[in-house]
Amino acid sequence: MKLYRAENYEHMSRKGANIVSAQVIMKPDCTLGLATGSTPVGMYRQLISWYEKGDLDFSEVRSINLDEYVGLKPDDKNSYRYFMNDNLFDHVNIDKANTHVPNGMAGDIQAECDRYNGLLRQNGGIDMQVLGIGRNGHIGFNEPGDAFEKETCCIALTQSTLDANARYFDSVDAMPHKAITMGIKSIMQSKSILLLVSGENKAEALYNSFWGPVTPKVPASILQLHNNVTIVADDAAMALVDKKTGQPVR
Ligand code: PGA
Repeated sequence: MKLYRAENYEHMSRKGANIVSAQVIMKPDCTLGLATGSTPVGMYRQLISWYEKGDLDFSEVRSINLDEYVGLKPDDKNSYRYFMNDNLFDHVNIDKANTHVPNGMAGDIQAECDRYNGLLRQNGGIDMQVLGIGRNGHIGFNEPGDAFEKETCCIALTQSTLDANARYFDSVDAMPHKAITMGIKSIMQSKSILLLVSGENKAEALYNSFWGPVTPKVPASILQLHNNVTIVADDAAMALVDKKTGQPVR
């Protein structure tokens, strides 16, 4: 694994954008695995600004997002389809027909998971998967448990995730309690992984994921077994690693 330390959120976002743009420049028709949440927003903003300057071209890029809430329409402001349009797709020249987010309104959720697994197998899979990490160590919505979920599936959100994401909703009751998520096997099949981590509330998850044992109780710990992972973490997120290892890790 490669670790880039960033001073703060802005620095992390810029470094992450450097890595994604290198992928897009080297392979203009790449498939990007994309993530939602507060962590990648700054990186998307940076990518938009480089696109506006003429330095990036998304016209041939294909994207596959990690997850979506069950029961939210694409135009619901809390849906991840809305998030992606609002934070990236509406501002660059990506062809929306080439952008994929699970359909949380599908009548047959299992059929939707199967369709998504089919998409993941097309075009040689994902070239670069962008990930954030949950405070409980989840990636996508693969929550801590007794086993790793393999492929796309419907999961029940844990209390930790409901608490973390309740800020976006009018009330916890208004929040979907289920989501469709890409599975761990699908994430692990990406050719490369870019994990962005910012803030002290992620310090424990980051330490447990990469300096602890590989266990489904900390889903991101499986990334220790992937041979092309790049972590961009800011100083606040690295605080516990520094403390436990006794020196700033570079
Ligand atoms: P966040 O979420 O970027 O909003 O912190 C990350 C995640 O839960 O995976």
